[in-house]
Amino acid sequence: MTEPSAAPPTDAPPNSPGAHGLENLLSEERRFPPSSEFAAQANATADAYAWANADRPGFWADQARDLLTWSTPFTQTLDWSDAPFARWFADGRLNAAYNAVDRHVEEGRGDRVALHFEGEGGDTRTLTYADLLREVSRAANAMTALGVRTGDRVAIYLPLIPEAVVTMLACARIGAPHSVVFGGFSAEALSSRILDAEAKLVVTADGGFRRGKPSALKPAVDEALAKGAPSVAHVLVVRRTGQPVEWTQGRDVWWHDAVEAASPEHTPVDVDAEHPLFILYTSGTTGKPKGIFHTTGGYLTQAAYTHLNVFDLKPETDVYWCTADVGWITGHTYVVYGPLLNGATQVIYEGTPDTPHRGRWWEIVQKYGVTILYTAPTAIRTCMKWGAEIPGKFDLSSLRVLGSVGEPINPEAWMWYRRVIGGDRTPVVDTWWQTETGAIMISPLPGVTAAKPGSAQVPLPGIAADVVDDDAQPVPNGGGGYLVLTEPWPSMLRGIWGDPERYKDTYWSRFAGLYFAGDGAKKDDDGDIWLLGRVDDVMNVSGHRLSTTEIESALVSHPWVAEAAVVGATDETTGQAVVAFVILRSDVVEGNAADAATVQETLRTHVAKEIGPIAKPRQILVVAELPKTRSGKIMRRLLRDVAENRQVGDSTTLADSSVMDLIAQGLATPVAASED
Ligand code: PRX
Repeated sequence: MTEPSAAPPTDAPPNSPGAHGLENLLSEERRFPPSSEFAAQANATADAYAWANADRPGFWADQARDLLTWSTPFTQTLDWSDAPFARWFADGRLNAAYNAVDRHVEEGRGDRVALHFEGEGGDTRTLTYADLLREVSRAANAMTALGVRTGDRVAIYLPLIPEAVVTMLACARIGAPHSVVFGGFSAEALSSRILDAEAKLVVTADGGFRRGKPSALKPAVDEALAKGAPSVAHVLVVRRTGQPVEWTQGRDVWWHDAVEAASPEHTPVDVDAEHPLFILYTSGTTGKPKGIFHTTGGYLTQAAYTHLNVFDLKPETDVYWCTADVGWITGHTYVVYGPLLNGATQVIYEGTPDTPHRGRWWEIVQKYGVTILYTAPTAIRTCMKWGAEIPGKFDLSSLRVLGSVGEPINPEAWMWYRRVIGGDRTPVVDTWWQTETGAIMISPLPGVTAAKPGSAQVPLPGIAADVVDDDAQPVPNGGGGYLVLTEPWPSMLRGIWGDPERYKDTYWSRFAGLYFAGDGAKKDDDGDIWLLGRVDDVMNVSGHRLSTTEIESALVSHPWVAEAAVVGATDETTGQAVVAFVILRSDVVEGNAADAATVQETLRTHVAKEIGPIAKPRQILVVAELPKTRSGKIMRRLLRDVAENRQVGDSTTLADSSVMDLIAQGLATPVAASED
């Protein structure tokens, strides 16, 4: 199956620069070179670029040897003979959990705090590396007793509580690839992920806390499994909220019965470097999410290297906090694997930034003396909206490095982050990467790079990226085009679970021999890279990837909807917002079954049920027609103009040019959705 080809860069990417001030990016003059004090103590050094350029695989082999402990050392570095299927360090063997936990204890670091857990309600737990070793070993024994074997897949549907980290590591310990499904996804989304990965075990909780209230999770698992999931033998359930749960005898098992009773001794299972470590589903341009899978040795190497160098981690003294949930790739690489491989002390927080008050994050920074903070532009913009006086009430002087990820950060948000949160002192690293890349690819290096607000700037040492035009030719400085990766990297995805053809078609067919990232980008006069947002039918809402097609499919699965088109409209806070255009079935319209407000609410709820609340359209506009080309392709560019209240652009290729007038008339009184 071939995914639709991307729009040319001249068709402004959906995450169009306009609203965020990126239109001035090529005239951005501000520079923030590292202070001499920071540079003097930095982990990263400028010569790493030349070192890596001289022998890219050799550079990564050195990192793999330095940063990981191998039970069988590798002798081969990169095998690219079956491109685009890469093999890194293939004859080496190791265990991910051993590297993340055991070796720290064996080397005398058992008393170091691994996790400071902060629950939304203010409950806390502290786990040292020695505690983590016991917990992970118990969970590995309990999962083995439930029949999980090396190679079996385990689905994880948990809130951000220590058990989520423990379960991921327990899976890694027995060589059972995990598939974490974000707790905000619906039963439907969970079901399709369980089926695609043929998971043997599902690990969940009764619920988690969200905005001060318990929010149930177990019912979604029950509903997902009721649709049929022949591979699932057991459901392991953590008691978090104490909510009553339905129980299926013989299938469901309480965590506190199975795990707490299990032995704290467990021998990690050594696996080949290319053994799958995890599957993580992400949205593509078709309706079916892609199971991106990553393997062990290469992924861990780049996770550890980037975490150490991009955040300048000093494991003995830093307190690191990445605000991502483990349901996303950022949580995999920069909450679980990167920090723990490096023996870091970190904070994990279950809740939202505004519960019970809008200073909650800053209160946490102050309480734990957080030194490195990694978050998303959407959160920074939200805090900007709430006002600088809120963080101003807290002592943030411990902070020394700030990171951003998930979407383009507009220069003003970058400046605010540095000034208000970082006290005008901290380096800010804008890190570009993807679920598929596994780890950070393009980013300044603190202590080395003179940072530019709004730009991810340069590929890391050992990474080769470029911006190319439609003919795969590198654009000159000052030019724009598509971001590509030109050489294999250790943490690259090894494919799409069960669908090697889709892997080749999606990433490797647009430009021969180049990895097509799906992002528009520009090079400025210095050759620094600026990311401009997706050029395909993928939206980025609050740093979360959503597929237009997936939401359209959800909408048309409702009996009222005849046809639907979804676009990502620029949104000041969330980067993009989902706006849907629907044609209702004639019986609904003629029977006058529902007024506009009811249609809005019913369909928004329906999308939340089908995919998850994050996919809820901000607005649903009922229209009589959709703009289509003569070949029947929906012209989303025109719909984006409407959704962003712009003059509608060139519509001469429409099959019926009166359609946009019809839409405009129907929009005289659009109904806006309520905030939630
Ligand atoms: O469009 C880019 C955007 O997020 C996409 C990847 O999304 P996902 O796989 O969910 O991973 C997000 C966290 C790594 C990219 O294709 N993106 C990510 N980081 C940046 C970014 N866009 C601009 N600047 C970034 N720093």
